[in-house]
Amino acid sequence: MNRKFDIVVAHDSNNGIGYANQLAWHLPEDMAFFKQLTMGKHYDHKPNIVIMGRKTYESIPQAFRPLKNRINIVLTQSKFNVSDNDTIIATSIDNALFQANTLIQSGDANQIFCIGGKTVYEAMISNQYCRYLYVTVLNNEYQCDAFFPEYNQIFERINCSEKQTSTSGITYQFQLWQSKQFKTN
Ligand SMILES: NC(=O)c1ccc[n+]([C@@H]2O[C@H](COP(=O)([O-])OP(=O)(O)OC[C@H]3O[C@@H](n4cnc5c(N)ncnc54)[C@H](OP(=O)(O)O)[C@@H]3O)[C@@H](O)[C@H]2O)c1
Repeated sequence: MNRKFDIVVAHDSNNGIGYANQLAWHLPEDMAFFKQLTMGKHYDHKPNIVIMGRKTYESIPQAFRPLKNRINIVLTQSKFNVSDNDTIIATSIDNALFQANTLIQSGDANQIFCIGGKTVYEAMISNQYCRYLYVTVLNNEYQCDAFFPEYNQIFERINCSEKQTSTSGITYQFQLWQSKQFKTN
């Protein structure tokens, strides 16, 4: 079985990813990229899976969660309940990956993205099945209380867009990093 998964993150020039359980910036271009990447092209017959921590799930406005056309897996060890049938609860990273890979094996899902937040990134980035980091790097530093771990040593950058400036004036870049320790099975 090919048990790969990829991480998607946007961080600022200091690896900051959020403040007070929210993103620390408003960057619609990155939200569009995130949606397109995680939804994929074939979601109508095989959705992708997004794995996230309970706090990140709760940070998504109610009207937008679960993230549509994707299978949402929420990590929690508390008695957290979700009211919809499209969200799966997992009590550990291993359990989340097991449930996700079972769905892929049975032909019910396509690929797996880890979408944060901080504690989940920290736990999953060193997993041997972590393949790519899709990183949106914002050029400025924002007030943050959550940070993405250092990754330059265990990942190498294999793609990088031109610097772009959003309509709101934020300069950013899409980067793709590949794990040096990724194993295919
Ligand atoms: N910039 C970005 O790309 C990006 C993306 C996502 C999130 N964020 C930011 O990240 C911040 C949130 O990060 P966070 O670390 O506070 O929260 P989080 O990782 O989203 O959620 C943490 C919660 O997830 C559950 N959890 C985590 N690891 C687990 C494990 N191994 N097994 C079972 N459950 C587990 C626990 O829930 P229980 O307490 O219920 O047990 C834990 O309290 C926010 O500021 C958010 O905006 C940024």
